[in-house]
Amino acid sequence: MYERVDLDAIDLGMGPPSLEPQRQYYFMAKLRKTVDQEKKRLGRPLTACVVTFGCQMNARESEKLSGILQMTGFELSEQENSDFVIYNTCTVRDNANQKVYGRLGVLNGYKKKNPNMKIALCGCMTQEETVIAKLKESYPFVDLIFGTHNLYAFAELVYRTYHEKHMLIEVWKESDRIVEDLPVLRKYPFKSGINIMFGCNNFCSYCIVPYVRGRERSREPKEILREIERLVQDGVVEIMLLGQNVNSYGKNLEDGITFAQLLREVEKIEGLQRIRFMTSHPKDLSDELIQVMKESKKICKHLHLPLQSGSDRILKAMNRRYTKESYIALAEKIRREIPEIAITTDIIVGFPGETAEDVEDTIDVIRRVQYDNAFTFVYSKRTGTPAAAMEQVPEEQVREGFDKVLKCVQETARMRVQRYQGQIQEALVEEVNDGSNSEEALRELNATEGQVLLTGRLSNNTIVHFPGLPGQVGTIVRVRLEECRGFYYLGRMEDPLEGTKEKGVLN
Ligand code: 5AD
Ligand code: SF4
Repeated sequence: MYERVDLDAIDLGMGPPSLEPQRQYYFMAKLRKTVDQEKKRLGRPLTACVVTFGCQMNARESEKLSGILQMTGFELSEQENSDFVIYNTCTVRDNANQKVYGRLGVLNGYKKKNPNMKIALCGCMTQEETVIAKLKESYPFVDLIFGTHNLYAFAELVYRTYHEKHMLIEVWKESDRIVEDLPVLRKYPFKSGINIMFGCNNFCSYCIVPYVRGRERSREPKEILREIERLVQDGVVEIMLLGQNVNSYGKNLEDGITFAQLLREVEKIEGLQRIRFMTSHPKDLSDELIQVMKESKKICKHLHLPLQSGSDRILKAMNRRYTKESYIALAEKIRREIPEIAITTDIIVGFPGETAEDVEDTIDVIRRVQYDNAFTFVYSKRTGTPAAAMEQVPEEQVREGFDKVLKCVQETARMRVQRYQGQIQEALVEEVNDGSNSEEALRELNATEGQVLLTGRLSNNTIVHFPGLPGQVGTIVRVRLEECRGFYYLGRMEDPLEGTKEKGVLN
């Protein structure tokens, strides 16, 4: 386990081991020496900045990058003019790529002022050959490029970057390897994401993820449970199990464990208070999972169930493998079994061939399912996916459909969120809110001297702001939901001084 690794005890005279993660510990020890030398040479600390684009998976992977950087002697910073800057990229939609290109230009400016600066890129975007070609051609100042399959070798790659003077590109097409026990620096002390699987086998026709993340690979349950136990010992009360399609967890494992069974095991971990997970593909959400969610005291009352489209014709072209009616039936079954559950979704507007009538089908599903929240995306053409070769929808038509869907989603979500008015629910306090409106909210809520505005998350994922003490961050407290403000609440703590980490049962 990485906590026990003593980098000073590693014999650097021996050459690198071939076994992982031992090889990486070896390179962490080497890199730390390099960082020390650099610090001496410059007469100051060496700073590093990790910037994350995209999803929760990337956020979790960035915590691994940060862990390795910190362990090897870098001082972590939020400033993008640091000595080492890494962008962990996303390529699910083209605007994510454009953002990275734009910001690379800014980094180049910083590098001209600080020639010691190193710039690195990793994540989904770098798995694309066209991106690599463009980087080589137009962004020669980037020092290190690696992909999603060899993130575990970060220490080795950074070490090489400091010792090889050319642009280092190490992108692998595939890997079935999962390396455990690398250092992690968590963003929040009290909650954490946990990868339970990597990759995706679904090949939805619009989606680039299977190409850049590779085939589905599940982690061994004992490794997952061990990681969660360690996190709980370290003060984590809420975890989020992460995978592109958690419902197919375990399919490549020998003992044939299902996601529902994994959840039952996670539930048993003492001290853990909340369990979330993301994302569930509707085509293989099992009755067993619904049952486990229903019986659980720890699984949050929230399910993210991407719809993508409500039109059977489009769903077929998307290769989603469910129909409008089977999706609605599933949502109804879930609501019947777990009435207080919040269901959220993802919707794409403008998929090739989509007509105004198809958009009406999507709106019909939104009205019938009544989502608590929905992320609506304009379809983005991704090179290499089957949908990229299909006939694209004119921009103006997409915009019209998008606006209609968004309006419907906002109306229904507002109504759903309103129904908690006056209830008392448990919230995990996530942070102190010192935004521009916090003073006004505190006045409105008659906050007392010394109180700050806290932001908490309910089991159903709704946000509530309420007065409290900074020391209550990371604890679970009971909050009365007083005033619905569209998509969030203003509230008041029921027992203001009782927010302790020991506080019990959820829901
Ligand atoms: N264009 C627009 N949205 C997309 N998504 C995935 N691929 C695309 C694309 N090419 C959306 C889906 C998915 C979410 C993570 O991103 O809705 O659920
Ligand atoms: Fe992409 Fe579909 Fe896999 Fe989700 S399930 S990552 S949308 S291919």
